[in-house]
Amino acid sequence: MSDNINEIKKRRTFAIISHPDAGKTTLTEKFLLYGGAINLAGSVKGKRTAKHAVSDWMEIEKERGISVTSSVLQFNYDGYCINILDTPGHQDFSEDTYRTLMAADSAVMVIDASKGVEKQTIKLFKVCVMRHIPIFTFINKMDREANDPFELLDEIETVLGIRTCPVNWPIGSGREFKGVYDRNDKCVLSFTAAMNGQKEVATKNTSIDNEGLKTEIGQSFYNKLKEDLELLDGASDKFDINEVQAGNLSPVFFGSALTNFGIETFLKHFLKMTSSPLSRNSSKGVIDPFSEDFTAFVFKIQANMNKMHRDRIAFMRICSGKFEAGMEVYHVQGGRKLKLSQPQQMMAEERHIVEEAYAGDIIGVFDPGIFSIGDTICTSSDKFEFDGIPTFAPEHFARVTQLDTMKRKQFMKGISQIAQEGAIQIFQEFNTGMEEIIVGVVGVLQFEVLKYRLENEYNVDVRLDTLPYEHIRWIDNKEEIDVSKIVGTSDMKKVKDLKGNPLLIFSNSWSVGMVLDRNKGLKLSEFGKN
Ligand code: G4P
Repeated sequence: MSDNINEIKKRRTFAIISHPDAGKTTLTEKFLLYGGAINLAGSVKGKRTAKHAVSDWMEIEKERGISVTSSVLQFNYDGYCINILDTPGHQDFSEDTYRTLMAADSAVMVIDASKGVEKQTIKLFKVCVMRHIPIFTFINKMDREANDPFELLDEIETVLGIRTCPVNWPIGSGREFKGVYDRNDKCVLSFTAAMNGQKEVATKNTSIDNEGLKTEIGQSFYNKLKEDLELLDGASDKFDINEVQAGNLSPVFFGSALTNFGIETFLKHFLKMTSSPLSRNSSKGVIDPFSEDFTAFVFKIQANMNKMHRDRIAFMRICSGKFEAGMEVYHVQGGRKLKLSQPQQMMAEERHIVEEAYAGDIIGVFDPGIFSIGDTICTSSDKFEFDGIPTFAPEHFARVTQLDTMKRKQFMKGISQIAQEGAIQIFQEFNTGMEEIIVGVVGVLQFEVLKYRLENEYNVDVRLDTLPYEHIRWIDNKEEIDVSKIVGTSDMKKVKDLKGNPLLIFSNSWSVGMVLDRNKGLKLSEFGKN
C-alpha cells in the first residue's frame, strides 16, 4: 500500500491550453526532452506531422492546422510522474477543453508575448478560470519582439479575471532579449543566444548584486530592470500558494520554448507549486486519491483514432487507488461488471498497453459503445457516482437530414455515437412521431466535423439546415408539470434529448422570461448534466 501512496504522491496531472500557434506543441516537446521521453528537441517534430500522428484521424484537423482532438502524454522528470493532457486550441471546442480540465489538477496557459490574450482564446481561457483549478501562465516567444510585460499582465487580469504574480521577469525582448530575473533566487538567468537555428541556448545565473551584471546586460537594461522590480514589488500581488491552489492567482513565467530558454526553471517551479492528485466529489462524499479502492470517471470519448481499426476509446481519469490490467471493475451507469480491455496510455506519440496505473493517471480503454461522458468506474460494492460534468448550452442549431433515406439505421448510429462522444447534442421534436433530428453545437466548426464524420466514417451524406435558435433551457421540474401544456412564444420550440428529457429552444433570449411569466411554477436552467 505504501508503494501506492508513493506512486500517487509523485503524480502531476495538468492540461496545457493555448491559442493555436502560441507554442503549446513546442513547449510540450521541451518538457518531454527534459523527461528523457524523447532524445532530441525536435524529434516529436516534423511537428506538423507528429502533432497529427497522435490524432491522425480527422482530415479537418490537417486541413485547418488545428488540433481538434486531445491526447495524453506521460513521462518522468525529477522524481515526478507527469501526465500532460492536450486540449484543442480552438474556441469551438471549449467544451472539450472544459471536460479535459475536469480530469486535470492544474493548467498551463501558454501566451504568445507579441499577441497577448487573443480574442479567439478568451472563451477557452475563461473556461479554465471558471473551473477554479490552479492556472500557471507561460508567456512564450520572448526571443521575438514582445508586448510590454506589465501590459501583458494587465490584460490577463482584466480580460480573464485572474490575478497574476510574476515568478520571473523579462529583460528586453527580441534581438535585445537578455534573459529573465528570478524573483525568488534574485538572480538573472541570461539568454546568451546564438540563435541561428540553435534549439538550446546556454544560460548563466548571475546575482542581481553582481557588478558584472551591468556590463553583461548593459547599463540601460540594468536600470530598467531595477525600476521594473520596484514597481512589481510595490504593485503586483504577493505570491500566495493558497491563492494559487484556489485558482485565484496565476504564477507567471516568461521564456522562449523554441530556444529552450526558461523551460526547465518553469518546470521545476511549476512541479513544486502544483499538488499531487486532488480528491474528487461524489454522491458518497469526497473520494480520497490515496484510498485503496480503484475509482475513475470517463471524461472523453474519442472515436476512430485509428482508421484501420475503427476503434473508439474512452479516456478515464483515475481518481483513487491502483489500476491493474485485467482487473474486474464495475461500471456504475451501465449497471454491470466488466474487464477493461487493452487499457492504453500515450507515450510521446505512441500508444502503450498499460499494466498498472495510479490515481492521477489517464487510461484509454476500448469502448464497444457502452460508456458516456461522466460515467463512474469503481471496484467497491457500494455504488456511487462522481459529480457529473456539466454540458455547455449549445448556441447553434441545425436540422440534419440524411440524403439517402435508405440509410436511416447508419445515420442514427453515426449521429448517436458522435453525440455520445459529447461533440454535439441531438434533439428530436417533442411528442410528435416525426423523426426529424435537430443538432445543437457550441461552436459552428462542429457542424462541419459532424458532416465530415458522417460521410467518412458512416458513409451517410447529410444536409444541414441552420435554424434560428440560440438559447436552450432544460426543464428542472419536468416531473411536476405537464410539458405538453407549456405555453410558448412564436420563436420557441419544444424538443427532447436522447434520454427523453424535455427542453425548450428559443431564438430570442427575452422569450425565456416571457415563457416563465406565462407558465407559473415552470423552472428552467441553462445547464444540463451528462
Ligand atoms: P501550437 O502548438 O500552440 O499551435 O504552437 P507550436 O508549438 O506549433 O508553435 C507555433 C510556431 O511558433 C512554430 O513555428 C514554432 O516553431 C514557433 N515557436 C514556438 N515557440 C517559439 C518561441 O519561443 N520563439 C519563437 N521565435 N518561435 C516559437 P512554425 O514556423 O509555425 O513551425 P515550424 O516550421 O517552426 O515547425
